[in-house]
Amino acid sequence: MIHRVEEITRIGVFTSGGDSPGMNAAIRAAVRTAIYKGKKVTGIYHGYQGMIDNTMFDMDSRSVSSIIQMGGTMLKTARCMAFKTPEGRAIAYEHVKAAGIDALVAIGGDGTFTGAEIFSREYDIPVMCIPGTIDNDLNGTDLTIGYDTANNTVIDAIDKIRDTAASHNRLFFVEVMGRDSGCIALNAGIAGGAEAILLPEKDTAIDELIDMLAQGADSNKSSMIVIVAEGDKNGGANNVAKRVKEKFDYFDTKVSILGHLQRGGAPSSADRVLATRMGYAAVNELLKGNSRATIGVRGSEIVTTPLEEALSKKELKLNEDLVEIAKIMAI
Ligand code: F6P
Repeated sequence: MIHRVEEITRIGVFTSGGDSPGMNAAIRAAVRTAIYKGKKVTGIYHGYQGMIDNTMFDMDSRSVSSIIQMGGTMLKTARCMAFKTPEGRAIAYEHVKAAGIDALVAIGGDGTFTGAEIFSREYDIPVMCIPGTIDNDLNGTDLTIGYDTANNTVIDAIDKIRDTAASHNRLFFVEVMGRDSGCIALNAGIAGGAEAILLPEKDTAIDELIDMLAQGADSNKSSMIVIVAEGDKNGGANNVAKRVKEKFDYFDTKVSILGHLQRGGAPSSADRVLATRMGYAAVNELLKGNSRATIGVRGSEIVTTPLEEALSKKELKLNEDLVEIAKIMAI
C-alpha cells in the first residue's frame, strides 16, 4: 500500500503481545528516527488495549533515554481481545484519529501483525510492523527481536542445571518456551549440549526418547539433559518426565520449567543492534510511502515483506540440519 508521505506528521508507536528483550531498543530507534525526520511521536501504552483505553502520550528524544539496556517494554504491552472485534477497532480508531496519529509502528508477534493488517486496511492508516518475540516464529525475517537474548538466558540456565545434574548423576527435563515454535528449544538445546530435544514441530514418541536415553546410559553418560519445548505434543516436561520414569528409571529424574524468566533480562548486543536497525527502518519505510508490511532481516540485509504475505505462510519450517546435528552431538 502506498500513501502520501507528506500527510504523515505524527507517528504512533506501540508494543503488543508477549514482551521481548530489545523491544525498548526498537521503540527508542523508531522514536528518535521519527523526530530526526521532523515528525511528532505518540507513545501508546499497552498496545491495542491502549488505543481503546486512550492511554497515549507525547514522546521526545529524552522519553527514550536509558532504555536501550532494559528488557521488557517501557510502553507496556497486552494481549487485547477487544481489538479483535470491529467495535473495539472503531473505538481505537477514534482515539488514534483524535491524537492526530497519521501512521503506526507496531512491535510484536503474529497477533500484533494480524491486528495491524486489519486495522490498516479497515481505516486506511499506514502501518509498519517490527518483529518482536522471543519465539522467532514469524515469516518475513530470519530473526525476531528478543530471540538471541532468550537463547542466551536458556543456555545460562542449562549450564547451571548441568552442574547439579552431573554432580548427582541425574536426568533433567528442562521445559523452555515455545507454544508452537521449537526454535528456542532446538537452538538452546544444541548450544547447551542437550541429550535430546522435544519440539512442537516433531512427534517424538516416549519410547523413542527412552531408546535415546538408554543408549546414553549404555555409553556411560552419568547425567543427561532433555529439552522439552512447552508446545511439545507429549504435554510438557512434567508429563514427559512422568512417562519416561514409568518405563526407564535408571536415573534419578528432575524437572525444571524455566517459564517467564526467559522473556526478561537485558537484551544481548545482537538484539539491541537488530532492534535499532529495525526501528530505524520502520520509520524510514513509512516515510518512503511503504505500508502494511513488516521489517525483517535476511542474512545481514534489512528487508520488508507485505503483512498479507507474512501472515499467509503459516507454517515455518524447522531447520532439519540443526535437528540432525543435535542428534549426532548427543551420542
Ligand atoms: O509468544 C511469546 C511467548 O513467550 C511464548 O513462547 C509463550 O508460549 C507465550 O508467550 C506465553 O504467553 P503469556 O505470557 O501471555 O502467558
